[in-house]
Amino acid sequence: MNISYRSEGSGEPIVFLHAFPLNRSMWEGQVAEFSATHRVMTFDWPGFGESPLDEGEPGMDRFADCLVGLLDHLGLDRVHLCGLSMGGYAALAFYRRWPERIASLILCDTRATADTEEARKGRYETAALARREGAAPLVESMTPRLLGATSLAERPDLVGRVKEMILSSHPEGIARALIGMAERPDSTDLLAGIEIPTLIVAGNEDKLTPPEEMRTMADAIPGATFLIIDRAGHLPNLEQPSLFNQALREFLPSR
Ligand code: MLT
Repeated sequence: MNISYRSEGSGEPIVFLHAFPLNRSMWEGQVAEFSATHRVMTFDWPGFGESPLDEGEPGMDRFADCLVGLLDHLGLDRVHLCGLSMGGYAALAFYRRWPERIASLILCDTRATADTEEARKGRYETAALARREGAAPLVESMTPRLLGATSLAERPDLVGRVKEMILSSHPEGIARALIGMAERPDSTDLLAGIEIPTLIVAGNEDKLTPPEEMRTMADAIPGATFLIIDRAGHLPNLEQPSLFNQALREFLPSR
């Protein structure tokens, strides 16, 4: 598998997994912050950012394969893992197969449950739309759902950045990720057995994975810390980077 990645800094390794339909540049603020104290890795899922399309069966297991391939390539046994939304689905798929390779888990604006039938149908329709018309229709449908009301009203720069990220995604990469998300299994069964330190982060304006649902997930994980970030939607690391970084800083072990 051919994956475009970035590794900066040194210290305990932390890997950030990006959301749909964005790319690793969504983590720039975290790379800048944490590379001073940690080894920080970000990468693009196949068909997003600078990673080429992949031929394998689409799915979160395929994404977990990408991650294990990267860790093996870099010679890393165990990492702190932070996944946002689709990145969180992939983190849970990875945890199911390689729990011993995760030192701590940060799940942001994501869910452990599988899609409802209705959501699944919508994903297949959007996948067909992306194949027919490219990424452009997703810019209009996704941007207002990804960003919270505060960012939409006050952060035109961020609105533009999110739109650019969506537009740069490969339509087939978008379609494959949608199919992979639609077919992902329910991971709720994993939650009670998670024994590593876990932080759950939710934006209080998140419409895609509402904070109440995130709280339910946090309650199912023994000893998990749950944190709500104010004035943020589905992308709190971009919408409120200082608060987000501070939360991670307090959670991660210092060197
Ligand atoms: C994401 O941000 O990765 C997506 O909104 C996830 C999803 O559509 O379920």
